Amino acid sequence: MADKKQNIEKELLSYLPQKDEWIGNLVSSMEYSLTAGGKRVRPMLVMEFARLCGGSEEAAMPFACALEMIHTYSLIHDDLPCMDNDDLRRGKPTNHKVYGEACALLAGSGLLTLAFEAASSGRAVELNGTEKCLQAVKVLAESAGAQGMLGGQIIDLESEGKQVSVDHLKVMDAKKTGALIIAAAKLGCISAGATEEQMKAAVCYAENIGLAFQIVDDMLDVTSSTEELGKPVGSDSENEKSTYAALLGIDACKQISEELTDRAVESLSVFENDTTTLRNFAYYLLKREN
Ligand code: IPE
Ligand code: IPE
Ligand code: MG
Ligand code: MG
Ligand code: MG
Repeated sequence: MADKKQNIEKELLSYLPQKDEWIGNLVSSMEYSLTAGGKRVRPMLVMEFARLCGGSEEAAMPFACALEMIHTYSLIHDDLPCMDNDDLRRGKPTNHKVYGEACALLAGSGLLTLAFEAASSGRAVELNGTEKCLQAVKVLAESAGAQGMLGGQIIDLESEGKQVSVDHLKVMDAKKTGALIIAAAKLGCISAGATEEQMKAAVCYAENIGLAFQIVDDMLDVTSSTEELGKPVGSDSENEKSTYAALLGIDACKQISEELTDRAVESLSVFENDTTTLRNFAYYLLKREN
């Protein structure tokens, strides 16, 4: 995993524009968040699904980078004062704390658009062909947009201070966090030219780990420490966020996230190739401390 992470991080940097005298500050701000660390969960999933479905990690890499750029953009904007107003991310001051709000806003938008450059780049086309690149662009756009991650973010903000149902949380989390994790599975499948059955199983795995992932994130906001988490604990209660942890408590969160992870792992049974990595990955995400 460490090797793969390093490859992803190297490749991510290769898409950044030159830091010239005109846009240097903006590019530095994009680079700051892109290189701040992070678990790289989504690009790892892209590459692993590509491998599992008989594709290559090399071909899947531009799609993996595109998705990580979109995820990083979502975090920069998520931390802004007008959203969650957080000062720490990936163990470092948040983008707007270093570069100011206006630059952080632009850096986020810059990473969003850079994602589409990566997915439609000469290298992506050379390795995957135009048709797969077009499919990937569509998946990226849909998962990041109003029906996906952005939709989840607005529901999250509009649910602050409210008592909402479990079904409401499910819809919110499926969009704000699930959408990009499902996109990871789909992008790997697209690059590899997976069958419909494989795609369906991959999406099922991603839906379940996606929801489990957000529930664990909500729990860690209560149970972890700021040092361990690399972002401020207690942020959710301060913002009166509607979360699984707030609504159902920590024990229920543990049980539900375990059930979801088991369900995710079960959906891997249709694959003929070795699924050990994805099985272990699901349990790693469940037991993670940050
Ligand atoms: C944080 O995502 C935001 C959520 C969707 C919960 P990650 O936990 O994947 O953040 P990094 O990329 O590792 O920093
Ligand atoms: C954010 O959820 C999900 C995104 C789309 C960025 P959170 O607001 O819970 O993420 P953290 O806890 O700040 O990483
Ligand atoms: Mg948020
Ligand atoms: Mg947040
Ligand atoms: Mg959170």
